[in-house]
Amino acid sequence: MAWDTNSTQISSPQFNRLRNQLLLFYFLAVAAILGFFSTTIYLLVSRDRQQQFDQQLQQIGTSAAGIWEVVYHEYEELTTQPEYAAYQRTLPRDRQGQLLPIALAQLMGKYQTDTAPPLVPGTLLDTTHGIAWYAPTRALLIYEGALFSLPLPDQIPAEGLFVSRDKTRSFLQPIYTASPQSGQELLGYVAVTGTLAELETELEHLRTNLFLGVVLVAGFVVVAGWWLMRQSIAPVAASLAQLKQFTADASHELRTPLTAIQASAEVLQSHPERIHPSDIEKVSAIATAATRMGHLVKDLLLIARLDAQAPDQRGWHVIDLDELLEDLVELLRDRAQAAQLALTYQPQATAKVYGDAEQLQRLFANLLSNALQYTPAGGIVTVTLQQTGKTAVVRVQDNGIGIAPADLPHVFERFWRTEEARHHYRDGSGLGLAIAKTIVERHHGHISVQSQPHQGTCFEVKLPC
Ligand SMILES: Nc1ncnc2c1ncn2[C@@H]1O[C@H](COP(=O)(O)OP(=O)(O)OP(=O)(O)O)[C@@H](O)[C@H]1O
Ligand SMILES: [Mg+2]
Repeated sequence: MAWDTNSTQISSPQFNRLRNQLLLFYFLAVAAILGFFSTTIYLLVSRDRQQQFDQQLQQIGTSAAGIWEVVYHEYEELTTQPEYAAYQRTLPRDRQGQLLPIALAQLMGKYQTDTAPPLVPGTLLDTTHGIAWYAPTRALLIYEGALFSLPLPDQIPAEGLFVSRDKTRSFLQPIYTASPQSGQELLGYVAVTGTLAELETELEHLRTNLFLGVVLVAGFVVVAGWWLMRQSIAPVAASLAQLKQFTADASHELRTPLTAIQASAEVLQSHPERIHPSDIEKVSAIATAATRMGHLVKDLLLIARLDAQAPDQRGWHVIDLDELLEDLVELLRDRAQAAQLALTYQPQATAKVYGDAEQLQRLFANLLSNALQYTPAGGIVTVTLQQTGKTAVVRVQDNGIGIAPADLPHVFERFWRTEEARHHYRDGSGLGLAIAKTIVERHHGHISVQSQPHQGTCFEVKLPC
């Protein structure tokens, strides 16, 4: 048979599955590594920015505490002036009619005009920050920038305290006199507050960008990985395809000489008078061996062809499973009788499946002939057909020699036979169940086995209807 290297395909289901699994694993591994790195980067950056934010608050707080004496002096001067009562009437009040604390800009501008300057938001700071100076009584006196109403906590340590509240963060510090003579006298408190909105927006952008980066890089790595995998799998797939093709070719080529041997042996056996009596047994051995080899080569060729060809549904039809099984059981009835076995068929449905009739017949013939072969005389072999939802379920049950639990995982392997089968049932090559499994998989079905040694075996085939 001609061998065409160009016909090598990398599209066999095993390779596709393997490639998809590898790609998925690759993607997950890359995504996990990148995810770990970007999370670390994010945590470091966010910690750094938080620290910067706090440092800024602390710096403003220290400066604000430093000018407290000047500010308070101005405040005292303003409030003790005789005109203050009239001036106070012009100052803004809150909804409850309470006097709002005086803005620093307003306090400093009090001499410039007779009336109070309009209350403008702070001039020293932007609206995202605010400074508040409190009296030792904790009454809020003066502020600058945005006004954040912040109740002072009971305990504020000398070195200051950070408080986070409603997307804002504040630095609170008590102000003491520095003069050693008067000791540590409390002058008041200063609170510097900033909104975290800007920082959060910045961190959100960072998160989005890192996430997009991870997805993009992982996607790129997968595309590159897919290409690399294609390149590296190609030679393996080619040699595997070559091997399969070789098996198919070898089996095909073996058929002709085998048929010749079988035919010659038959001719010799049909004229026993022409054979020397001492050679009769040898001729019969040749005929038996040739027949067995014929079966083996046929199975090998079938499995090699199933392997080498991509599933082709052109020859598929709607098949009445009930009819197929009934015909098969009838076909094997003589063999069952000869082996003194009760063979029964119990259809509980008339399931129709879509598939290759020849292959499905082969599948159930293999299961049935196993049941007949591995069940001693007097045994019972039952075939049942059911339909559950959109699945046809065929069970081939016997009460024969059974299979040891340790052997069960191997029964579908090629050329695998149990020790018992090897010794007591010489006929057989161990390909029947491997063929059955390949056929079931080609029909998108599932095959399973349950067995107890010396009690029996049940093969269950599920096919989509
Ligand atoms: N119904 C059964 N009861 C007990 N053992 C079984 C049964 N069916 C299969 N086995 C075990 O599984 C092995 C593999 O079965 P398989 O049909 O693949 O090969 P085989 O019957 O030995 O040879 P052949 O290729 O001619 O079918 C058998 O050798 C046998 O040991
Ligand atoms: Mg078999």
